[in-house]
Amino acid sequence: MNDTRFQNGERFAAEMDRRDPLAHFRQRFHFPKTKNGEECIYLCGHSLGLQPKSVSSFIEHALHDWEQLGVEGHFHAANPWMPYHRQLTHPTAALVGAEPVEVVVMNSLTVNLHLMMASFYRPTTRRHKILVERGAFPSDQYAVESQIRFHGLDPASSLLELTPREGESCLRHEDIDSLIDREGESIALILLGGVNYATGQLFDMAEITKAGHRKGCVVGFDLAHAAGNVPLRLHDWGSDFAVWCSYKYLNGGPGCVAGCFVHERHAHAPAVPRFAGWWGHDEATRFQMGPQFHPMPGAEGWQLSNPPILALAPLRASTEIFGEAGMERLRAKSLLLTAYMEFLLEQNASDKFSVITPRDELKRGAQLSIRLSRHGRGLCDRLALAGVVGDWREPDTFRVAAVPLYNSFQDVYRFVQRFSAALEQIK
Ligand SMILES: Cc1ncc(COP(=O)(O)O)c(C=O)c1O
Repeated sequence: MNDTRFQNGERFAAEMDRRDPLAHFRQRFHFPKTKNGEECIYLCGHSLGLQPKSVSSFIEHALHDWEQLGVEGHFHAANPWMPYHRQLTHPTAALVGAEPVEVVVMNSLTVNLHLMMASFYRPTTRRHKILVERGAFPSDQYAVESQIRFHGLDPASSLLELTPREGESCLRHEDIDSLIDREGESIALILLGGVNYATGQLFDMAEITKAGHRKGCVVGFDLAHAAGNVPLRLHDWGSDFAVWCSYKYLNGGPGCVAGCFVHERHAHAPAVPRFAGWWGHDEATRFQMGPQFHPMPGAEGWQLSNPPILALAPLRASTEIFGEAGMERLRAKSLLLTAYMEFLLEQNASDKFSVITPRDELKRGAQLSIRLSRHGRGLCDRLALAGVVGDWREPDTFRVAAVPLYNSFQDVYRFVQRFSAALEQIK
């Protein structure tokens, strides 16, 4: 199918860039360079987002405060460390469609996943299963299986996996819906990736939450590949919890502090069982150092430790840029960029590859997953030499994402040119 919005050729790409109202944001990021000193074609924001140029000054401010103030920085730094994480509350809430009380930045993604399951996976004899997508990211699989075992249960009977139909790569919503309908009474927790890491499929989180709740299940999402990529409305959808990392589309830097959402309906329920730490304790009495734990209202009540200021600083730099660009404008550009990449790949169609990401743009974010029928790894290596940064996922998938904050239409054009040239060399 020929998408009539687009034309082939670099002039068209350059014209699209000229008309792009977000094009100037590219200048705010550092691009890795090739050995020849040229900017790479960086299409790897689904793995590690690029560094905003403003990051170093955010970190330097925190370092300066530490240098000058020592422990007094907790209260007297220009941005005091005690409430430092709160500077991220509103921007984070805006990114995931939450009320401020529902979000917190803390820990890493898998840690938060465990904390959420400690609270919200409460298996009983009748309702003990966790529903996941088959081939979820390994850390999620390990976390889920270990939680099941932690409760003395067996994944063979307590883990339920959604599997695409024979010959298909992505899940059909009607299949998710009918499995929930069929098995719902035995499901304690539905835990899906908002966007699947391998296929790039975006799930209908509103409908999945609704279907799960109809059956009395808890519904949580891993938004590692969704946060900063697609618009989210967690509060309105009513999902019970969500977790995500901040180093992909959120550009917070390698291993950056992660995010966590707990729906408002659980915000004032101190009886929800949880693993506790002093930073989750009511801040009015935290420094009285009493033995009784009284959680903060909302997601902050799940904090364990005092936050790593130097790791939060880059996230402030990045969320500031998100605030300027706005998720709606970013999504509008993202839809165009990804459709344009798909159009160009189709212009270069070959039996050597297929795109397994859904064609329907409402069912995907920025990522396209390209399945290579043979010699895929070698092709990736060749592309890397040609300055293209994407990534390879075993056994056969090359993943690329054109990120609307910093990628251009010319990036996409040049990528497809180099991809096709590398493909030619595969016999
Ligand atoms: C979907 C998903 N879940 C979990 C993880 C693991 O994240 P972390 O190492 O931050 O715990 C990743 C990392 O890429 C991921 O993509």
